[in-house]
Amino acid sequence: MVITIGAAGYGPPAQSSIEVFHGYGSPTAEAVSYLDSPLALQDHGLQHAVQHAVQHPVPTVVYHSPVRPLPPPPRAPVAVPTYFQPGHNFLTATGYGGAELHPLAAGPRAECVAPPAACQKTAAYRTIDGSCNNLRRPTWGMAGTRYARLVPAKYADGVHAPAISVTGQPLPSARAISVVLFPDVPINDKRWTLLTMQWGQIMTHDMSMAMGNTQAKPYSTSCCSEDGSVALPVERAPDVCYPILIPRNDPVFAPYRQGCMNFVRSTTDAMQGCGNGYEPAEQLTTVTSFLDLSLVYGSNQALADTLRERQGGRLIVEVRRGREYPPTNPNKTEVCDGEGPGEVCYLAGDVRVNQNPQLTLLQVLLLREHNRLAGILAHLNPHWDDETLYQEARRINIAQYQFVSYYEYLPLFLGGDNLRRHGILYKAQGHINDYREEVDPSVLQGHATAAFRYFHSLIAGHLDLVEEHRQAYGRLRFSDVLNRPSVLEQGDGLDDLGRGLTTQPEMASDQWFTSEITDFLFRSGRPFGLDLRAIDVQRGRDHGLASYNDYRQFCGLKRAHSFQDFQDQISPENIEKLASLYLHPDDVDFTVGGSLERHVPGTEAGPTFNCMLMEQFYRARVGDRYFFESGNSPNPFSPEQLDEIRKYSLSRLFCDNADNIQNMQPQALNFPAHDNPLTPCDQLPTPDYRAWQEAVAAHRYSPYLGKK
Ligand code: HEM
Repeated sequence: MVITIGAAGYGPPAQSSIEVFHGYGSPTAEAVSYLDSPLALQDHGLQHAVQHAVQHPVPTVVYHSPVRPLPPPPRAPVAVPTYFQPGHNFLTATGYGGAELHPLAAGPRAECVAPPAACQKTAAYRTIDGSCNNLRRPTWGMAGTRYARLVPAKYADGVHAPAISVTGQPLPSARAISVVLFPDVPINDKRWTLLTMQWGQIMTHDMSMAMGNTQAKPYSTSCCSEDGSVALPVERAPDVCYPILIPRNDPVFAPYRQGCMNFVRSTTDAMQGCGNGYEPAEQLTTVTSFLDLSLVYGSNQALADTLRERQGGRLIVEVRRGREYPPTNPNKTEVCDGEGPGEVCYLAGDVRVNQNPQLTLLQVLLLREHNRLAGILAHLNPHWDDETLYQEARRINIAQYQFVSYYEYLPLFLGGDNLRRHGILYKAQGHINDYREEVDPSVLQGHATAAFRYFHSLIAGHLDLVEEHRQAYGRLRFSDVLNRPSVLEQGDGLDDLGRGLTTQPEMASDQWFTSEITDFLFRSGRPFGLDLRAIDVQRGRDHGLASYNDYRQFCGLKRAHSFQDFQDQISPENIEKLASLYLHPDDVDFTVGGSLERHVPGTEAGPTFNCMLMEQFYRARVGDRYFFESGNSPNPFSPEQLDEIRKYSLSRLFCDNADNIQNMQPQALNFPAHDNPLTPCDQLPTPDYRAWQEAVAAHRYSPYLGKK
């Protein structure tokens, strides 16, 4: 029989063997309730196991902690510098302090990617892999490098074993946390369209992807028994396994006798041979950290080259029914779920492109925008070769994208005033020369593994199909269409889903998450799937994320000594639930505590998540030598060109690149309304790309290119 001491038990156990899993699991109550049952009392083997557990309490061995030689004495943890003062309340601070570069900021460890042989200081265009953006630290922000940490890692063994409670007991099961604290309570957002959620995922995919994760499909590595009832015994499970145990009384999974949810650990520097195995493991990200549309162009040169047509600066497309789509993915069966040869499956700069149709839709629009820009530039500057057209179209596409991300999207989440106060947004015209060489643009663990994932709560359980007059005539169930982008090419799918994105409300930013992602994620036709919220929590532990209490302290809030001390930010009801799940306030996961905080007025998150998001988006602009507003980059936009870029909008992206959307509201992130009326596309502001016309070709202007 299988019983987990201090971890999840489930189903009537088989009467054969005993395994005591240490170091991970769900509330002790689960095990205790079984131990008290009449069945357990008749089970001598179990009694023996319990006796043993009582005599040898506080297990410190953690599931699948790799066996290592004895480490040398611990050293002081290395933290990267923060640009607001740690411990200062960021809400009252007037700006990010600009700490001096810490001598150990980049860590004394080996590089995980080969640094470029040499950087061309005056290179007019950013590299594909992000290298050489920072001339002193050419690997900063590069694909394949480490995430950065602001708060030292917390591993049970100081190296890589997932954390356990400070009491020595296992932490509560991530699935139990998800069920108790993050259920499905469908509350629509009152102001913002589903596009707001979807743009966030685009930015996420541009900035990071933990190596070793699939993020779009179930893993091929299995950590659970074939029928999902139990976790594989430690000796039979691959080293990267860290399955989520499902409590026996789970409302969704129990009827299917599922006791184990697959979870594969992210790749670390030590696994890649660039960590020494004694210091806390650091996870690696496969994409560039910059907001550089790597999801369109790729994060490595080989993929970027594959995606190019090599003519007219264009990216490869397949044309069907007169419309451009991304090329077919050669690994179709691995990447997509479509049944039958007729179903499409795309290749793009990011492997997650097919994950959900609204994400794919935006990828298609951004791809088409590149080719549209290349066409315009070719018309304006017929003497430009393929390379110049590709690079210039890419540069403008990225600039427009950075503009809408910072000026249209971020203020909704973080508040325009806050952003301006912290030097993340400016009211200024012309250039803004705020590049700082000492700022590391690497994506922060606290951002990617906790704070930004809070916005999984914005995901809606269905996707509206909407016709031109903005009447919804149908809807798709979210979990039915994951990894099935074909819906975009069926009928008017792309336009109907596009109008849906800009008409349907997103879900409110709160502690409620749709069951489409907490019970049915990637279910591929099965009656149940994965739980993204549980995965978020488990991923935090996998990455050795410091606790909620540590992040509170880092962000200038008081450290809690009792659960009651969380009251400054968390409701009494949630505190009660936390106390029922966790044994100690220091155990509360950052992902969990941060998601329960009352929002800072004018923002969509509580103070600790805000603190991470602010820091991250500060770094993403000030640490990017090629940020579009910079006048000091090697090839800056002219003030006139900047004026044109600042006319761009998300509405334009739809108007110019959807199949046949004729009207859009000016602010696509807000619902159409009397102060944001549906407007014919040709009446919405548009950049005049003549600002990119070189004098030699000035006579070639054509009126179709745009108007002032
Ligand atoms: C549209 C539906 C979405 C789906 C189906 C989805 C699904 C996922 C999945 C499966 C992962 C990987 C989980 C893991 O194994 O650790 C992930 C990671 C993540 N998601 Fe989402 N997500 C969605 C939207 C969003 C949105 C709207 C945001 C933020 C605004 C977001 C932010 C993140 C972040 C920051 C990560 C970690 C990326 C990394 O690896 O560094 N996601 N998401």
